[in-house]
Amino acid sequence: MTDLAVRGADSAGVWRERDAELISPAYSRYSDLVVDHALGAHLHTIDSRDVLDFGCGIGVTNLGHLHPAVVRAVHEQVDRLWHTSVTTLSPRMIDAAAALVSITPEGLDQVFLNNSGAEAVETSIKLARRATARTEIIAFTGAFHGRTYGAITLTASKAKYREGMGPFLPGVHHVRYPHCFRYCDHGPDAPCPIARGDEIEHLFKTTVAADSVAAIIVEPLQGEGGFVVPPKNFLPRLREICDEHGILLICDEVQSGFGRTGRFFCVEHTGVRPDIMCVAKAFGNGLPIAGVIATHRVMSAFHAGEHGTTFGGNAVACAAAVAVIETLRSEHLPERAAALGTRVIDRLNGWMNEFPVVGDVRGLGLMIGIEFMRGDKPDADIARRVQRRCLERDLLVLTCGIDDNVIRLLPPLTIGDDDLDAGLSILETAVREEVER
Ligand SMILES: Cc1ncc(COP(=O)(O)O)c(C=O)c1O
Repeated sequence: MTDLAVRGADSAGVWRERDAELISPAYSRYSDLVVDHALGAHLHTIDSRDVLDFGCGIGVTNLGHLHPAVVRAVHEQVDRLWHTSVTTLSPRMIDAAAALVSITPEGLDQVFLNNSGAEAVETSIKLARRATARTEIIAFTGAFHGRTYGAITLTASKAKYREGMGPFLPGVHHVRYPHCFRYCDHGPDAPCPIARGDEIEHLFKTTVAADSVAAIIVEPLQGEGGFVVPPKNFLPRLREICDEHGILLICDEVQSGFGRTGRFFCVEHTGVRPDIMCVAKAFGNGLPIAGVIATHRVMSAFHAGEHGTTFGGNAVACAAAVAVIETLRSEHLPERAAALGTRVIDRLNGWMNEFPVVGDVRGLGLMIGIEFMRGDKPDADIARRVQRRCLERDLLVLTCGIDDNVIRLLPPLTIGDDDLDAGLSILETAVREEVER
């Protein structure tokens, strides 16, 4: 059966049935929309719905769907060269690396290109072990770093991701991420012991010698774990701990990168320079490309043939990546994300007083989370019902959080003011209906 055979009024139902028959049940979908095409901030479904996209395919289409500059770059490359892998040098790969280095923190100047976030994370931990000749890795509870075996070992945002999948990679240790809204009882201006590194120091004292640790891997704004913005001193303190013990600091910017938080990369909010950074998602605005960027000194620990990939740095994906970075710069999209984010947060802050179920609102730029609570308990049912009500009114929002009780807002950075306001009004109505039901 071709897609042309299943267009029309009942077509969505037919596609859903075929999906259930043919596609692995492992995919956990946020909606059952059957999307035919998309443009900017709008998804157009096969049954003629026009849905506002506040999810961006999980933080990928930061420039909006089918941004003309990316479409043009991809078309040009498709007619020129697709793929040679390591059988040749590749000018597009070099262009993509140069573009990436031009926007990453100073000193991070050599690149290994992969296809996905998980692969980039795998590359980063192999590199850290190779560069330090140490074995142990510290990660954080609530973290999400991907689904391959190394990455899932680091991931600790939901136990079900790991259930029945072990054994995992040896040498990985988790400490808590400073999610003060959930874990802490200190005042808003008092120091947070988790951000101060107390749990890491305790780990060093009780479980793992500091001089056996190759790397600490951290999301500068925790994504799947609940869109958690850590206290300002957290990243600088991690940098200090790493410097003190010769540990490499890996920042996973897979979700928070490419303008999303109001800067090219989220670490820029902290002034901290990691030793290794992982990027993916919005790098290709929808074409699969990821990267690991490190200092020359660290990257030189890999010698020829010690790590590799067939598809990583594919020419078409690289052409898209170059166009993405040029467009972020020429359209001042990090600045736009910062300005729109302030506007969104101002509006959402009012909801905390108006709606008792809104426990917390937080974020940077256009990476914003709303945490739903029933009293002092996280409530996933409310978040799910609010999400469903939004979808009924043609707004797609996603959930996240270790308790699945956070609605995350990830609209495209190119979204028009009208669409942004329209989406927020749908969300507000959904929350109000939930409170009044
Ligand atoms: C912070 C972070 N790291 C890594 C990954 C894994 O990326 P991928 O799904 O491309 O493997 C994700 C995906 O959501 C992520 O949010």
